[in-house]
Amino acid sequence: MADKRLGVGFIGGGFIGQFHVRSWVGVRDADIMGIVDINRDTAETAAAMARELGVGEPAIHGSITDMVADPNIDAVWIGTPNFTRIEVMEEIAEAVIGGKGELTGICCEKPLGRNVAEAKEMLELARKAELLDGYLEDQLFSTSVQRGKAIVWARGAALTGRPFLARSAEEHSGPHMPWFWEGELQGGGVLNDMMCHSVEVARFLLTEPGAPRESLNPMKVTAHTSCLKWQDPHYVEHLRSISDGKLDYASRPAEDFARGLIEYRDEEGKELIVEVTTSWCFVGAGLRLSMELLGPEYSMSINSLDAGPKVFFSRNVTGEVGEDLVEKQNAEMGLMPIVADEEGEYGYTGENRHMVQSFLAGKRPEENFSDGVNVTELLMTAYMSAEQGRTIEFPPPELDTFIPAVARGQWNPNK
Ligand SMILES: NC(=O)c1ccc[n+]([C@@H]2O[C@H](COP(=O)([O-])OP(=O)(O)OC[C@H]3O[C@@H](n4cnc5c(N)ncnc54)[C@H](O)[C@@H]3O)[C@@H](O)[C@H]2O)c1
Repeated sequence: MADKRLGVGFIGGGFIGQFHVRSWVGVRDADIMGIVDINRDTAETAAAMARELGVGEPAIHGSITDMVADPNIDAVWIGTPNFTRIEVMEEIAEAVIGGKGELTGICCEKPLGRNVAEAKEMLELARKAELLDGYLEDQLFSTSVQRGKAIVWARGAALTGRPFLARSAEEHSGPHMPWFWEGELQGGGVLNDMMCHSVEVARFLLTEPGAPRESLNPMKVTAHTSCLKWQDPHYVEHLRSISDGKLDYASRPAEDFARGLIEYRDEEGKELIVEVTTSWCFVGAGLRLSMELLGPEYSMSINSLDAGPKVFFSRNVTGEVGEDLVEKQNAEMGLMPIVADEEGEYGYTGENRHMVQSFLAGKRPEENFSDGVNVTELLMTAYMSAEQGRTIEFPPPELDTFIPAVARGQWNPNK
């Protein structure tokens, strides 16, 4: 496909679909040529955005099979809610295996599955359909992470020894759609939703540039989960009101705080630590990603809210509520940061560029479904640890069939 452009179809044109559309201005050799969304208005919005930005002329398809059959589509990106993973992937695989259309590759948003069984099923279906597979973990491709890692390893690690501790956190004030809050639909709470990023970006920072994932061996996982904010009666009522009464955080909450510690060994048997913390109860300017990488004579730190300009609006500036300064923005007044290039800073642009170039070259992306499976294995071990209140050796028995209590609607720290 070296002289060809890649035609990409999006399944899901919601929040993340539109982030991907905006990122496409920094992606070469590919156009967004199709969108499927069960909500026609959402598909229209995402398609209009693509046309306006000049990143494609997407046709709106009535089904995944129709989009796969479109000769303008060479690859598809899955950006629908977590509870649709398997049905979406099955339809893609059936369309390809049944000869309805041809695809080179497939990309899937995080998490690859709600549990290990689902994540492995995704990998299996991609293999059966003989598709190149990309796992969309954007934070690995963040401009700050890429540059920070390269410089730390080239200067600090080359002269004084490898880094031994990586810290990573993702925090905001809570998801934008009700389904994220429902343990059974999403697969868990903040641990599943956001620690998937943190464990993977921390592992990536600790891994020598160019070395495979297997150069780091996870040995033990210790985690803690809690519901610190959203079981308060006031917030229980708020969640009920935004979900037509479906969310019941008094009796079926999901964790809004999770921390984890993963002990790795490198190929020489040296101990390395990943320390992660995530929450849905951070009320600051907006989404905050923070990472640190520490070695014998150096350290690196990243805070996404410190990346760009800051503005100050006095109390007389009483504008409308918006998310124009930063994702999950909490205020429009006072001293506020602007994340000037969110698509680049969070990693969507670099991630999509990498996936497109891998598919055009006929190569499996560096971040792929096998990575997605391993991330899910670590997260499920973290849930086991939190449920049992002890450190768990990795991999624990029965990991493949484990479903966290929160995903069975049976977790309630108030009981
Ligand atoms: N990388 C990140 O940082 C990041 C951020 C947000 C979301 N995500 C992931 O992206 C996925 C989607 O999240 P979102 O925030 O965009 O959710 P969303 O609810 O805003 O959008 C999902 C869209 O999918 C559509 N949809 C639902 N079922 C469908 C189906 N069967 N076929 C076609 N369309 C369907 C909905 O109509 C909606 O427009 C989730 O898996 C989430 O974890 C990743």
